[in-house]
Amino acid sequence: MTNLIAHRLDAPGATLVLGRTDGPPAIVYFGAPLRPETDLVMLVASRIQPLGKGTLDVLPGVALLPEAARGFTGYPGLIAHRPDAGGGAWEGRFAFRDAARCDDTNSLAITCADADRGFDITFHCRLCPESSVAVFKTELTNSGSDDAIIDWLSAPVINVPPMLTEQLRFSGRWCAEFEIHRRPIPLGISSTENRRGRTSHEAFPGVICTSEGATENTGTCLGLHLGWSGNHRLLLERKSHGLTQAQLGVLPLAGEMRLKPGAALATPELYAATSDRGLNGVSQAFHAFVRTNIAPFPKPAAPRPVTVNTWEAIYFDHTLERLTSLADAAADIGAERFVLDDGWFKNRTDDTRALGDWVPDARKYPDGLHPLVDYVVDRKGMQFGLWVEPEMVNEDSDLFRAHPDWALTLSPYPAVLGRNQMVLDLTNDAVQDHLFERLGDLLGSYRISYLKWDMNRDLVLAGDRHRKPAGSRQTHALYRLIDRVRAAFPHVEIESCASGGARVDFEILKRTHRFWPSDSNDPVERARIQSGFLHFFPPEVMGSHAGPTWSHTSGRGCTAAFRALAANYGHFGFELALDDISDTDRAVFRAAVERYKADREIWHRGRVWRLDTIDPNLIATLATSLDQAAARLVALQIDRARSVAPAPLAIPGLDPARLYRVTLKSEDPPERSGTRRFDNPLSTGGFVVLGEMLAQAGLQLPVFHAQSGVAVAIDAVD
Ligand code: GLA
Repeated sequence: MTNLIAHRLDAPGATLVLGRTDGPPAIVYFGAPLRPETDLVMLVASRIQPLGKGTLDVLPGVALLPEAARGFTGYPGLIAHRPDAGGGAWEGRFAFRDAARCDDTNSLAITCADADRGFDITFHCRLCPESSVAVFKTELTNSGSDDAIIDWLSAPVINVPPMLTEQLRFSGRWCAEFEIHRRPIPLGISSTENRRGRTSHEAFPGVICTSEGATENTGTCLGLHLGWSGNHRLLLERKSHGLTQAQLGVLPLAGEMRLKPGAALATPELYAATSDRGLNGVSQAFHAFVRTNIAPFPKPAAPRPVTVNTWEAIYFDHTLERLTSLADAAADIGAERFVLDDGWFKNRTDDTRALGDWVPDARKYPDGLHPLVDYVVDRKGMQFGLWVEPEMVNEDSDLFRAHPDWALTLSPYPAVLGRNQMVLDLTNDAVQDHLFERLGDLLGSYRISYLKWDMNRDLVLAGDRHRKPAGSRQTHALYRLIDRVRAAFPHVEIESCASGGARVDFEILKRTHRFWPSDSNDPVERARIQSGFLHFFPPEVMGSHAGPTWSHTSGRGCTAAFRALAANYGHFGFELALDDISDTDRAVFRAAVERYKADREIWHRGRVWRLDTIDPNLIATLATSLDQAAARLVALQIDRARSVAPAPLAIPGLDPARLYRVTLKSEDPPERSGTRRFDNPLSTGGFVVLGEMLAQAGLQLPVFHAQSGVAVAIDAVD
C-alpha cells in the first residue's frame, strides 16, 4: 500500500477519485459524493483486484492511459511511432512526474513522462461545481528529437465500473438521428468509427453505460460524450478479468497527426456524468453543464424566440411578395424571428449551383436583402436570420471557377460530390480570409441576428492543396473560422445544422446557440429524435418546428395540434407555408405560440425528465422548475396505444409536500380523441393534489388516438 496516492475532486453531486502508484493514474471512483473524511488511500487499496491464474504476474487496472508495458492487454490508449528513428518508440512506459491542483477551477493536471520514448503526457481533469460533470483531456508532447506520428490518442481512458453491463449508443441517419440502441456491453471490443468528416448522423460520439435494466429514473449510469465535430472513434472493451474501458478520441487520416519535436497534441474534451437515479440524472447533469459552461447566448436572459423558417414553405422560389406574405403570417401568430433559408444568393435556383457566391441574387433581390430585412425587422418587429453554408462550393459557381484549388480533393482522383457540392479547404488561410470577408459583408450590411450555418455533405478524400490529409485539421480550421466570426459579430446567434443533425456535439455548441437536430419535421419521427437528443442536450438548444400537414420528408400527415405540440418543448418554431393554412390551424398555432411563450422559462431553465411509460408509443417529456413551483408535461401518442387506456404516469421532481393544481390542454379537434368517457376531474378543469400523489400514484391521462397528445400544466397553489 505504500506507493498508493489518491487525488479527489468534489462537486455537490459527485466525487471523482484518481488513484496512482508510479505511473498514469486511474479513475477509481466517480459517483455520488463521498464524505470528506473518506480514507482515499484505503479506498484505492481496497479496490485492488486479486490475481487469478493463467494471467500475467501483474494486473493493471484501467489507467487514464493503460499501457502494455504495465501488463495491460486491451486496446492501447496511445498508438505512435517515429518513422525516421529506425525502430523503437512504438511502445513505452510513462512514469509519474507531477500533479498540479487548481482550486479555482476544481481541476487537476497530472503529468507523466517517458524519456526513453520521448513523450510527456498530461491528463487534465475538472469537476464542474454547477453540474458535477467531469471534463477530461489528454495532452501529449513530443519531447524526443524526431517527428512522431500519432495514430491514436484517446482522451483520458475511462475505467467503467464492472456493474455497468449495458450500453446506450446513439446513431442514425438523415431524418432519423439519435436512434437509441440498447445492448449489453459484450466481451471484447465494441467500437464505432466515424469517417464522415463531421460529427455525423451515423455515430454520435457519446454513450451511456448503465446497470442492467436501468430506466429513466432508476439504476446507475455513466454518460460519456466527446466534444468533437469530425472523425472519431468510440470504443468500449470488456476484458475477461472483469474490467471495462471506454476510449474516445479523434480518428486521424493516415499520418495527419504528426508531432514535430517539442510540439504538443491535445485530445478534444471528454465529458462524463454519473447518476444513481437513472438516465435522467445523466441528462440533467449534462443539461446543467451546457447551461453553465457551454452555451454562450449573446443575451443570456433573453427567451428563445419563436422562429419561422422559409425552407419547406418556398424552397428556392423566392419573391419579395411571397416572403412578405410569409412574414405577415409569421408575425400574425406571434413569431419573433424570421429566417431566410437557402435560395437567396446569386443564381441559386436549385441545389446544383452557386454555393460559394454569397451575394444576393440580383433577379430575386434587385435591391439586395434590404427591402425584406426592413420589412421583417421594422414593419413586423421580428429578428432576421439568414441561411449560409460557408464551408461549401459548387463546381458551377464563380468561386470555384476562380479558385478550383480551394476545394478539398485528392488529385488525380475524381472528386466525390455530395448534394452536388465540394468542401472548401479551410486549412488554407486564403480561404478562411475570403469566407470571413464574405460573411462579414453580409453581417455588416444587414441587420442579421442569426445565421443558420449549414453543412450538407460528408467529407471524404480530404486532401489539401499540398495533397496532405486534412481531416482533423479541417475541423480545427472550422472552429477557428466560426470563432473569428463570433468575435467580430458577438450579437449574432448561430444555428448548427448539417443536413439536420449531423453536427451536434458540445464543441460546436461552444460557438453556436442551437441545433437543427433533424430535417424531419414529421412529429412522430421528431418525438423519437428529440428523446434521443435530450439525453445529452437541453431543450433550449433543440430547434423544433411544426412543419406542413403532410411531412415533406416522410409523407406522414398529422394535425396542426399534434405538429405544434411535438415541437412545443424545444426551441419552438414553424416551417411551412403559414400564409396558406386554414383559420382553424392558425388558431391552433396561435395557441401553441402562447403556450410556448408562457412555458419556455420552465422548459429552458428547469429540470427535464423523460418519463418512463409502459407504452413505447407514448413519449412523455416533463420539465420541473428549479424551485419546484411548476411543471409542464407534453405527452405524445406517436402511434396506436398498446393498451386500451394509458397507465398512470409517475411525475418526478415535485415537492412531495406541496399542493399542485393539474390542468390539461389539448388543441386537437374532438373527433381526434380516443376517449369515450373520462369521469376524472382532469377533463373538467383539473384538480389539486399533493406532489407525492403525482410521484407515487401517478397521473391518469385520457385515451389517445394515434398521433395526438396533450400538454399538462402543474402549478403549486400555495
Ligand atoms: C439542409 C438543411 C435544411 C435546409 C436545406 C437548404 O438540408 O438541413 O434545413 O436548410 O439544407 O438547402
